[in-house]
Amino acid sequence: MRTSIISTAVATALAFAGLGSAANITEWKSRSIYQVMIDRFARTDGSTDASCDVSRFCGGTWKGLLNNLDYIQDMGFTAIQISPIVKNIEEHTSVGDAYHGYWSVDNYALNDRFGTKQDFEDLVAELHKRDMLLMVDVVVNNMAQAFDNVVPPKIDYSKFNPFNDKKYFHPYCNVTQWENATDYQNCWLYPYGVALADLATETKPVSDELGRWVKELVANYSIDGIRIDAAKHVNDGFLPGFVEASGVFAFGEVLTGLPEDMCRYQSLGLLPGMPNYLEYYQLNEAFNGGSMADVAEMRNEAASSCNDTAALGSFLENHDMPRFANRNDDMALAKNGMTYILLNDGIPTVYQGQEQHFKGNGTPFNREPLWSSEYNKESPLYVLTATLNKVRNNAIKLSSDYISTPSETLWADVNHLCLRKGPDGSQVVFCINNKSSQGESYQISVGGFQKNEKVVEVLTCKTNTADISGNVTMYMNKGEPKVYVPQAALSGTGLCDKTEEDGPSSGAAALGLTGSVVLTAVIGWAVVLLA
Ligand SMILES: *[C@@H]1O[C@H](CO)[C@@H](O)[C@H](O)[C@H]1NC(C)=O
Ligand SMILES: *[C@@H]1O[C@H](CO)[C@@H](O)[C@H](O)[C@H]1NC(C)=O
Ligand SMILES: *[C@@H]1O[C@H](CO)[C@@H](O)[C@H](O)[C@H]1NC(C)=O
Ligand SMILES: *[C@@H]1O[C@H](CO)[C@@H](O)[C@H](O)[C@H]1NC(C)=O
Ligand SMILES: *[C@@H]1O[C@H](CO)[C@@H](O)[C@H](O)[C@H]1NC(C)=O
Ligand SMILES: *[C@@H]1O[C@H](CO)[C@@H](O)[C@H](O)[C@H]1NC(C)=O
Ligand SMILES: *[C@@H]1O[C@H](CO)[C@@H](O)[C@H](O)[C@H]1NC(C)=O
Repeated sequence: MRTSIISTAVATALAFAGLGSAANITEWKSRSIYQVMIDRFARTDGSTDASCDVSRFCGGTWKGLLNNLDYIQDMGFTAIQISPIVKNIEEHTSVGDAYHGYWSVDNYALNDRFGTKQDFEDLVAELHKRDMLLMVDVVVNNMAQAFDNVVPPKIDYSKFNPFNDKKYFHPYCNVTQWENATDYQNCWLYPYGVALADLATETKPVSDELGRWVKELVANYSIDGIRIDAAKHVNDGFLPGFVEASGVFAFGEVLTGLPEDMCRYQSLGLLPGMPNYLEYYQLNEAFNGGSMADVAEMRNEAASSCNDTAALGSFLENHDMPRFANRNDDMALAKNGMTYILLNDGIPTVYQGQEQHFKGNGTPFNREPLWSSEYNKESPLYVLTATLNKVRNNAIKLSSDYISTPSETLWADVNHLCLRKGPDGSQVVFCINNKSSQGESYQISVGGFQKNEKVVEVLTCKTNTADISGNVTMYMNKGEPKVYVPQAALSGTGLCDKTEEDGPSSGAAALGLTGSVVLTAVIGWAVVLLA
């Protein structure tokens, strides 16, 4: 070990005694996160030649990111999450290079593939100058070493810093029982090409050292939050002390679609937040032959099982899952998905390339170099994201209760989910649907406003007036999502400076259906005939 691991116990205990955090949970809940994979975001020289092997290094750097922060900030994001920053293995392995940053060998050296210490410090300084927060991914479950695919892997433990001895690790076994916590926490993940030597995080020397390390890392680089990779694969008891030692907000990766498996991490106080895989799976189903009503049901389950859904990361894509558009590249569906994650309870988390409608399949094909898009700020999802972040950021500015007010479900059926979030005056009422761009035109009536209140649909800048029950008539067409706010809430935001009155003609004319009668097929809706 680098320093005596035993002597760090005292320092770690002090660290656990509650430091002033760079950014606490309340601060993070009001942020909106853009997830960056450093090797795939931008190169230092800004070159956009996209011919690169996605299982090898493609050349992205911290400096490349620094040079392109406008691209992210102009979309309205107020935080970024980046790849792990420490030194990784250098070998070309049968499962690719360590371009993603998850194969640590030295926790005390920065990853020079991504740049110098100065480059990283410049990036953090610039982020903070822009009032943006930085979340850094950290790996605690294992250290990594290339091997020849002969199991058990022959590991040279002296190559690791710290943890340079076999005694800090679990003996080799391959994870085979995904329902057995002892097995998936103590055995080694994916022993192919690279051995992920599994740290014995339940032992005091290991947990003390990791606590001391993360505290230093956060302090040395002014990090505002961490994402704990593979949090489900370390023992439960390790997590609270580690989070406390970091002194900052943490997302822990807990890959499960079951509320009882996910929410216990909050209710037992193991983690403050997790990416919301519960809704992720249901949303994907709803846009691929499933039902929106199931999303609504999962929302209810999550709200009753998880202590704090506002601290969950709301997402539809990340670097581990096939792109949304890989299953269905219909643009209207992608817009509905994006609308949901940005306006939902929880911290919106958009993975780079989602705003460019990338279509890659599973790893590594979901890690397309972003530069292949030429950083197009006019792509439909980029424009939509910029508008919706503006809507959310504005609502938060107008009311300190926006975040803490849980969304109310106004309507849910197989094709639609309509939610209202925020107190009167700063509320956002939105309806997503899974009709796709082939969707017919029809009208629905949805509540959430004061009687006779003037409202604006922010994606089309059409105005409308709520009826005496506070309902607004929404002119649905081509499967587009709808997002309404009080007109008064928009003053000074630059959103929808020019508006026009909404009406049935716009929807019908667009479909060339003027004069015909369009009926919604949904039973139980307030159906209006469209002449
Ligand atoms: C979080 O930090 C803010 C200042 O950034 C402070 O106003 C607030 O009281 C803190 N909240 C908690 C729960 O510590
Ligand atoms: C590891 O376990 C998985 C099942 O979880 C199995 O498919 C795989 O062949 C095993 N690999 C090795 C190297 O033992
Ligand atoms: C769970 O996994 C551990 C480690 O592989 C094993 O020793 C134990 O027998 C398993 N428990 C059950 C109930 O299968
Ligand atoms: C933090 O900085 C100190 C002083 O330069 C250094 O000794 C320590 O190794 C650094 N820790 C980490 C985790 O980078
Ligand atoms: C979460 O909620 C449960 C049930 O209300 C409560 O017992 C528990 O103390 C809460 N946990 C935390 C960490 O707030
Ligand atoms: C939308 O939901 C309906 C009803 O569950 C389903 O039949 C349809 O396939 C879904 N649409 C898409 C694009 O998945
Ligand atoms: C008003 O909207 C709600 C949904 O928010 C709906 O249930 C109700 O039927 C609507 N009322 C009218 C008169 O259309």
